Amino acid sequence: MTVVLDGKKLRDKIFSDLKVKLDKMSEKPTLAVILAGDDPASQIYVRNKKKTAENLGINSIVIEYPADVTESELLAKIEELNNNKSITAILVQLPLPKHIDKFRIIDAILPQKDVDGLTPYNLGKLFAGEEPYVYPCTPKGILLLLDEYKIDIDGKHVVVIGRSNLVGKPVAQMLLKRNATVTMCHSHTKNLSDITKTADILISAVGKNVIGEKMLKSDCVVIDVGIFKNSNGKVRGDVDFENVSKIAAYISPVPGGVGPMTIASLMLNTVELFDKIM
Ligand code: GUN
Repeated sequence: MTVVLDGKKLRDKIFSDLKVKLDKMSEKPTLAVILAGDDPASQIYVRNKKKTAENLGINSIVIEYPADVTESELLAKIEELNNNKSITAILVQLPLPKHIDKFRIIDAILPQKDVDGLTPYNLGKLFAGEEPYVYPCTPKGILLLLDEYKIDIDGKHVVVIGRSNLVGKPVAQMLLKRNATVTMCHSHTKNLSDITKTADILISAVGKNVIGEKMLKSDCVVIDVGIFKNSNGKVRGDVDFENVSKIAAYISPVPGGVGPMTIASLMLNTVELFDKIM
């Protein structure tokens, strides 16, 4: 029987524990989110982050900029947020408009307030096998989900498809730290199926429909990080859920798998940073 990894259920459990903790705190964390441009998906994500934070008792502000915002305007705002003691967590929603150097912007965030764990300091700590202030949200959410279902990572062959700083690279490092054997694949990988067929755990973060049941071995674990709308406007992931769920031991659905875990991790990170600063 295939087990569907229920990200919503785990998110709700995390939120109810967090709410108890936050209700007891006399001072609350404040999450500042910078949203630049008019990407419709980003607007929905940011609205959702703010609403979720507020429902839990975390203060939240969203600072919006038009698509023609300049790098210096964003850098000035980040400096102001870095220096503002009442702001305890900063998130710059990605993607940024094309003319903006995202690395310059992210690098400007104070590592102690970097709630995404994406600054060079935090990613550097992670890659060195040390403790960053916090771990990037989606990778953290994936590991929480694997652990919730007691899926063994030690010594397993994990194949990660996608090499972004948000997901692929940090999740690979976090799995290495947990003694997995990790293979990274990406758009230039040759004979992808030959590699995915050897995966005990497959993590796909591509953003298009790439994974069918013929690419996998029976009883593998499949984590689908992709989320996009198909030509019929239906939200779906990288994996052919219907057919892959016939052969996998565990599979995360889209929606309802990794997505809710990313936002749960963001809320956990916001509270963890507050605890570390205070
Ligand atoms: N865009 C899509 N996912 C994320 C995320 O986890 N953090 C940020 N900052 N932007 C994103």
